[in-house]
Amino acid sequence: MAGASPLVQLFAALLAVAATATTTAALTDDVLALVVFKTGVADPLGRLAAWTEDDDRPCSWPGVGCDARTGRVTSLSLSAASLSSRLPRALLRLDALLSLSLPGNNLSGPVLPNLLAALPRLRSLDLSSNRLAAPIPAELFAQCRSIRTLSLAHNELSGYIPPAVASCSSLVFLNLSSNRLAGPIPDGLWSLPSLRSLDLSGNELSGSVPGGFPRSSSLRAVDLSRNLLAGEIPAEVGEAALLKSLDFGHNLFTGGLPESLRGLSGLRFLGVGGNALAGELPAWIGDMWALERLDLSGNRFSGVIPDSIAKCKNLVEADLGWNALTGELPWWVFGLALQRVSVAGNKLYGLVKVPVNAAPALRVLDLSSNTFSGGIPPQITTFAGLQYLNLSSNSFSGQLPSGIGGMRLLEVVDVSANHLNGSVPPEIGGAVALRVLRMGRNSLTGHIPSQIGNCSSLVAFDLSHNNITGSIPVTIGNLASLQVVDLSKNKLNGTLPMELSNLPSLHIFDVSHNFLSGDVPDSRFFDNIPETFLSDNSGLCSSRKNNSCNSVMPKPIVLNPNSSSNPLSQATPTAPSNMHHKKIILSVSTLIAIAGGATIIMGVIIISVLNRRARAATSRSAPDTAISDDYLSQSLENDTSSGKLVMFGKGSPEFSADGHALLNKDCELGRGGFGAVYKTMLRDGESVAIKKLTVSSLVKSKDDFERQVKLLSKARHHNVVTLRGFYWTSSLQLLIYDYLPGGNLHKHLHECTEENLLSWMERFDIIIGVARGLKYLHQRGVIHYNLKSTNVLLDGNGEPRLGDYGLANLLPMLDRYVLSSKIQSALGYMAPEFACKTVKITEKCDVYGFGVLLLEVLMGRRPVEYLEDDVVVLCDLVRSALEEGRLEDCMDPRLCGEFPMEEALPIIKLGLVCTSQVPSNRPDMVEVVNILELVRNPQDCPEIELV
Ligand SMILES: *[C@@H]1O[C@H](CO)[C@@H](O)[C@H](O)[C@H]1NC(C)=O
Ligand SMILES: *[C@@H]1O[C@H](CO)[C@@H](O)[C@H](O)[C@H]1NC(C)=O
Ligand SMILES: *[C@@H]1O[C@H](CO)[C@@H](O)[C@H](O)[C@H]1NC(C)=O
Ligand SMILES: *[C@@H]1O[C@H](CO)[C@@H](O)[C@H](O)[C@H]1NC(C)=O
Ligand SMILES: *[C@@H]1O[C@H](CO)[C@@H](O)[C@H](O)[C@H]1NC(C)=O
Repeated sequence: MAGASPLVQLFAALLAVAATATTTAALTDDVLALVVFKTGVADPLGRLAAWTEDDDRPCSWPGVGCDARTGRVTSLSLSAASLSSRLPRALLRLDALLSLSLPGNNLSGPVLPNLLAALPRLRSLDLSSNRLAAPIPAELFAQCRSIRTLSLAHNELSGYIPPAVASCSSLVFLNLSSNRLAGPIPDGLWSLPSLRSLDLSGNELSGSVPGGFPRSSSLRAVDLSRNLLAGEIPAEVGEAALLKSLDFGHNLFTGGLPESLRGLSGLRFLGVGGNALAGELPAWIGDMWALERLDLSGNRFSGVIPDSIAKCKNLVEADLGWNALTGELPWWVFGLALQRVSVAGNKLYGLVKVPVNAAPALRVLDLSSNTFSGGIPPQITTFAGLQYLNLSSNSFSGQLPSGIGGMRLLEVVDVSANHLNGSVPPEIGGAVALRVLRMGRNSLTGHIPSQIGNCSSLVAFDLSHNNITGSIPVTIGNLASLQVVDLSKNKLNGTLPMELSNLPSLHIFDVSHNFLSGDVPDSRFFDNIPETFLSDNSGLCSSRKNNSCNSVMPKPIVLNPNSSSNPLSQATPTAPSNMHHKKIILSVSTLIAIAGGATIIMGVIIISVLNRRARAATSRSAPDTAISDDYLSQSLENDTSSGKLVMFGKGSPEFSADGHALLNKDCELGRGGFGAVYKTMLRDGESVAIKKLTVSSLVKSKDDFERQVKLLSKARHHNVVTLRGFYWTSSLQLLIYDYLPGGNLHKHLHECTEENLLSWMERFDIIIGVARGLKYLHQRGVIHYNLKSTNVLLDGNGEPRLGDYGLANLLPMLDRYVLSSKIQSALGYMAPEFACKTVKITEKCDVYGFGVLLLEVLMGRRPVEYLEDDVVVLCDLVRSALEEGRLEDCMDPRLCGEFPMEEALPIIKLGLVCTSQVPSNRPDMVEVVNILELVRNPQDCPEIELV
């Protein structure tokens, strides 16, 4: 009140001590109370500017209303006026007020305890949407006979709701929503004879809802949603027969829907979503025939959806999502006046049948996360008002109907994670309102239609995990609103259109795992695009990283700054005179070459390693033992931008004669969950296999990576492929292995011709060899994680060697999700515990994989075979054959019966024991090897009996 006049200050003082005012003074009191009110609040918008103490009547002041007869102030109404202060005490002097309404201001402090007592005629009080705090004073309701409408909603009130509120017998409307009120709902509220509307939503109320809804209740609307209320919904709530709206949503209610609800023939909204209600949906829901909105979502309701809901002819919104409902989609979804329907996240199945002549008013249809199958009914595209269509995570097959192009209001289409095939229909360009189009994780083929460029509102576009070919259409550059684009895991080729640099809002653009090449567009977004969005393509390069496609020249980095020779001169390859030079110069250059111009082969990675002297130094140092890498580490770590090559043990870390190792598609040996493998040659003519990790984004820090790789490199066993070295940069990691000419076991088993068919003895040898290799790895504490026939390589003598072991250890954590997605190609070999969070993954997962592999070798069949309408799981097949005594029938027919059954039988049984569901029931590899050796030399122990 800094600027207030002395007169006002005097009156303020008088008010504060509650000086008795005479009736004649009452009028002037009103003026002065309002002036004091004005002086006490900050009024940034000047809404009170016209209030001046010079007027003797305040009745024409903005927001002020008077009784025409007495001239007393009866209403004060200032909403959203940005008034800031504590709730002014001056209000207490306006004792003729009938209505006080100050919502949407910035009033703080507690509610005045004597507010209702001081304003005995007040019928309506609205202080909602302010910043009132502290508990509601219990005294507030000591004298509240005349109050009818009371809203303190949307403040910061805390504490319990004073039980005395139930004594305000005239209350019609009580709104305490969106505060921080806790504790129970006071008893007696339901008995207030005039109460029509109660809103306690959005607090922290707890306990159960008191019962006692009288038949005489006037209640029309009750909103208890978003609290912490528990227990059952009161059984007799339906006694309040005039109810039109009942919201119990988002609490902790249990039990079922009380049957008394069926009597609510005037109920228009029933909300119980987000609780823990269970049981079947009662058929009597249809008795609430006036329902317009029904929310049962997010509970545990089960059973089929009752057809009787169709009796609710006015139903506009029905949300039954995220329960455990079963059965088929009810016909009425397309039959009533429904505008919004969700049955997402249930267990519904079968075809989605749209009745002929259905012309529903649907705007939102969400059938996602069920197991609906069959085609997407083309009639859906005739629903002219449809704005949101979510069919994701079902088993829909066939094509996206082309009629979708005629849907002018359609904004969101999500059909991801189904079995759709065919291509993206070019008609999609007609869906001009489309903001979100998700078609990822299907089996789509064909090209991205250029017409997509007509969907000018598109914000999110996802076609990931399909088999889409061709190039990215230039027209995508027209879609100025695009923010999220995911085209990863397809077969797109060609270059990225430069027009993409026009997209101002882009923040995700994932094209990883395609066959794209060329320069990345120039724009702020693309200059800073994370590597993961571009990884695993034929060759994408960005000028920011100084490896623009136009300058593909290996530039060696000289890593020893003390070198006497010119550090920038590229050492000429294999100049023998350099071999005996005293100074050590090491140069490594790497380059990811991308096909920008015609001169460069697409998809080439060139590694140029020119470190003859390092080799010379190594050969002079202690024999055999490690490792030039200590030296290499030291000298390389000074230069963070360079790559680091480390070779273990003896051997030359130099690639083929021209100083380059070409890792291109022509010398690709195969691909797995962790990357592609290429064959290349060391300078001395020895072949090596180089694995290029595609999990670079997931790989641990350089130090962890090195530690793990060094651990793996120590594995030396004639049944294990030797890891010879590695190459590291933050974006490219290579592992260098011995190259094995014999190919992998999978090829020998499933893709071979008559001549090189594996004999019984060879198969037995392979099984023992694999078992020994695994035993060795386990003894060194290495879990393979990825055992399968493609990872068993055969050397020149037909001896098996395990490859790809322990790579999961290179990832930051043994995350099951990552593991199973990286190793999903090993379907059928994966131990069941991968799917079970509570079971620890141990080396017994390898034993499981070994058991499957063993059966695969003997039966010559894949671990899982997909037949036309059947899936054959090998170990189940063998297990039942054993039980039925017809094992011989399922041995590989190509063996033509040439095997001793007395040897085969125990081995098969061993395989079955190894594939036990429970890890602890599986033997360990030491036992497995012992058993196999005994089967081979039975004289050592005559009684082998596996049961
Ligand atoms: C609300 O009042 C507080 C002081 O009580 C002040 O700091 C704040 O800026 C005001 N907020 C608005 C939106 O006027
Ligand atoms: C209660 O008040 C809040 C905030 O002003 C408002 O949003 C809500 O609609 C009110 N409740 C009822 C039932 O009118
Ligand atoms: C479709 O529904 C799924 C849940 O079933 C949800 O995760 C996804 O976000 C929805 N898609 C869109 C575009 O809203
Ligand atoms: C892509 O095609 C290949 C072979 O044609 C098939 O094995 C693979 O499952 C397909 N991928 C998808 C996501 O449909
Ligand atoms: C993309 O691949 C197709 C065949 O797979 C080929 O015809 C076409 O020329 C390729 N396009 C580019 C730009 O490489």
